[in-house]
Amino acid sequence: MIRAGVITVSDRSSQGIREDRSGPAIAAMLSELGLMVCQSCIVPDEIEPLAAAMARYADEEKLDLVLTTGGTGVSPRDVTPEATLEIIEKEVPGFAEAMRAHSMAVTPFAMISRAVAGIRGRCLIINLPGSPKAVRENLAVILPALQHAVAKIKGDDRECGTP
Ligand code: MTE
Repeated sequence: MIRAGVITVSDRSSQGIREDRSGPAIAAMLSELGLMVCQSCIVPDEIEPLAAAMARYADEEKLDLVLTTGGTGVSPRDVTPEATLEIIEKEVPGFAEAMRAHSMAVTPFAMISRAVAGIRGRCLIINLPGSPKAVRENLAVILPALQHAVAKIKGDDRECGTP
């Protein structure tokens, strides 16, 4: 079973000023698919606490999958991609490419998201945009490839067939 973590990146939610609806939306979608959501937290839009949370989930909690939500845009405080690039060892650009491509059919604002995805150790880390709507739409795009990607990252060396 895939063990997952969810990190909400938001100044307001981290201060308790705004209810976090995106993190729980991710957790609900993952649980519905049978993934185990083991960890979740809310951090402000700052590189250091976000990078530390992602690294802890990968290195100490040994999670298979970490999804972040928020901070992928172009506002002055948006630093989620920078924090992610700081701690991943390999980039997996296809996830972000697919999310932006599919999301463009929903809203032209999809091109504003600078989301990235990559691997740290045996953990796949993927940025999602911040709104609950964007979370649901983007997660739906990547879900079909998640289990296969996690299996490969964990060392599954069986030959790939058709999905
Ligand atoms: N992608 C989808 N599928 N649906 C959306 O509503 N919102 C966009 C974009 N991607 C959106 C989306 C908007 S409005 C922004 S500003 C960027 O994601 C970045 O969002 P973030 O800064 O909250 O991460």
